[in-house]
Amino acid sequence: MDLKGMHILVTGASQGIGAAIASQLMAGGARVAVHYNSNRARAEALLAANNTSASVALGANLEDPGAVEGLFRQSLDALGHLDALVLNAGIFTPHPVSEPLDSWWRTWRQIQAVNLDAPGLLTRLAIEHFRQRAGGRLVYIGSRAAFRGETADNLGYAASKGGLTSLARSVARSYGKEGIKAFTIAPGFTHTAMAEQAIAEMGQALLEETALKELTRPEHIAPLVAFICSGQLDHATGTVIDINAGSYMH
Ligand SMILES: NC(=O)c1ccc[n+]([C@@H]2O[C@H](COP(=O)([O-])OP(=O)(O)OC[C@H]3O[C@@H](n4cnc5c(N)ncnc54)[C@H](OP(=O)(O)O)[C@@H]3O)[C@@H](O)[C@H]2O)c1
Repeated sequence: MDLKGMHILVTGASQGIGAAIASQLMAGGARVAVHYNSNRARAEALLAANNTSASVALGANLEDPGAVEGLFRQSLDALGHLDALVLNAGIFTPHPVSEPLDSWWRTWRQIQAVNLDAPGLLTRLAIEHFRQRAGGRLVYIGSRAAFRGETADNLGYAASKGGLTSLARSVARSYGKEGIKAFTIAPGFTHTAMAEQAIAEMGQALLEETALKELTRPEHIAPLVAFICSGQLDHATGTVIDINAGSYMH
């Protein structure tokens, strides 16, 4: 996929799905703002592994709206402009209703801050920027949970991903005539740090609900993001694309 000349911000690119996406985009020739929260060394290692000085690692805790805006501005400072944003960073923190109300609520708020509020703010900033450039693309990494629902301990996660999906569709509907396209990718269980414990606990039962014989890996998701960023899928704007090894079809 030829992405030369494209400038792209990928959030949560220090590991997991975001790292695979950032690598794929850099391999295609894009200049990437590789965002990290706590894992600066891994973000910098990703740049080194891709042998590029054209891309940059930028840190921000997306729980903080000031840092979210700072990340957007620093991306523009580093890359000059943005053609696409991949809103991938996310957290999956269990908060059972048996917890005291205040800690349940704290976790709920933290999940919404990272998974929904930060992408919302970045979307607002991107729309303003893309309008000045006659367009751009937003790729939201959602989840199967938005459609299938989640387990009792993860109500906040499912709600955040439902919100993200609706956000993407609304952007696609509202700004398509200004050249702005928006897509949601909805993974199922994927081998990353976020899911490894659940995958280990659920074991064989997970494979029994999956059409394919293995669970998804980040490398199965990254090529689709490159394809979207290339512009070849523009007429599918507003769509949700499932990548869940056939574990949930709707
Ligand atoms: N893995 C799955 O089974 C699965 C399934 C469906 C959807 N997804 C979605 O896919 C996306 C990527 O997940 P993953 O599995 O690759 O997760 P992961 O391996 O845990 O990586 C999460 C990324 O998000 C960043 N991050 C976490 N908290 C942050 C914060 N407060 N501020 C800024 N960045 C923060 C992390 O940065 P640092 O490491 O630098 O702290 C890391 O780069 C998420 O949106 C997730 O919901 C995953």
